[in-house]
Amino acid sequence: MGYTRIDVRPVTGALGAEVSGIRLAEPLDEETFTELRDAWLTYQVVFFRDQELTPEQHVAFAGQFGKFQKPGFVPTLEDHPNIRKQEMDENHKIGSDVTWHTDDTFVEIPSMGSVLYALEVPEAGGDTAWINMHKAFETLSEPMQAFISPMTAIHDISATMGPGILRDYGAEAWQKLRDSTPPVEHPVVRTHRETGRKSLFVNPLLTSSIKGLSEPESRMLLDLLFQHMQQPENMCRFRWRKHSVAFWDNRSTAHKGINDFFPAHRLMHRVAIADTERPR
Ligand code: SIN
Repeated sequence: MGYTRIDVRPVTGALGAEVSGIRLAEPLDEETFTELRDAWLTYQVVFFRDQELTPEQHVAFAGQFGKFQKPGFVPTLEDHPNIRKQEMDENHKIGSDVTWHTDDTFVEIPSMGSVLYALEVPEAGGDTAWINMHKAFETLSEPMQAFISPMTAIHDISATMGPGILRDYGAEAWQKLRDSTPPVEHPVVRTHRETGRKSLFVNPLLTSSIKGLSEPESRMLLDLLFQHMQQPENMCRFRWRKHSVAFWDNRSTAHKGINDFFPAHRLMHRVAIADTERPR
């Protein structure tokens, strides 16, 4: 698509684009919305600079792309239940966001997209990195693609996230979450509903095993896939500034916060946009 309402500059050869010529605080007109949606689907994560947003404007921007994902265990703003507050400093340790993941794959319908807004950023560090999971799939050999394509993976919150949630939010929060989120199954390879592209759909934070394989087989295959997806050639990395925004497609990416700034203060607000159907 040729863009006339927005300016789009790719960040790396793998994914990501910086978008300018747009004010997220205002409702998007139809043409600008269409162009932005196209850029988001094409580049999988889009970045904006110098967007001062009130919580209402943040929610209103995300709400143009879908309904909101039900909040999980991350604290939300008192008056804005759809805004998750992600704060790190000497009193709040960075949590599970620092392991590669795709948001919410521990539920049957993981969120479709996320809009992350920076309110306070460290002087150095605290970047976020994303992986193009289409490319991660497409760069596997054809026999490996064929081998994993019919497989199903188990996604389970307890293995890697349990101890952190217990530490940060307490036993009651953990038990509530455990009870409400039993392990779920997702395809190892999913097809994007809108673009038709296939992507690898496993992540080190939440994918615990592959159905039908023995424990060592499952571990070996997952380790191989995790190593493959984490090649720098599949990635982009974003240096945050105050009032920067990142908007990513969870159906085709994985991401992680880079934990190199402790104990500096970093405060982000995130709105998660719900998907309408299970990955397939
Ligand atoms: C997230 O995983 O939701 C946020 C990542 C980050 O804080 O950089």
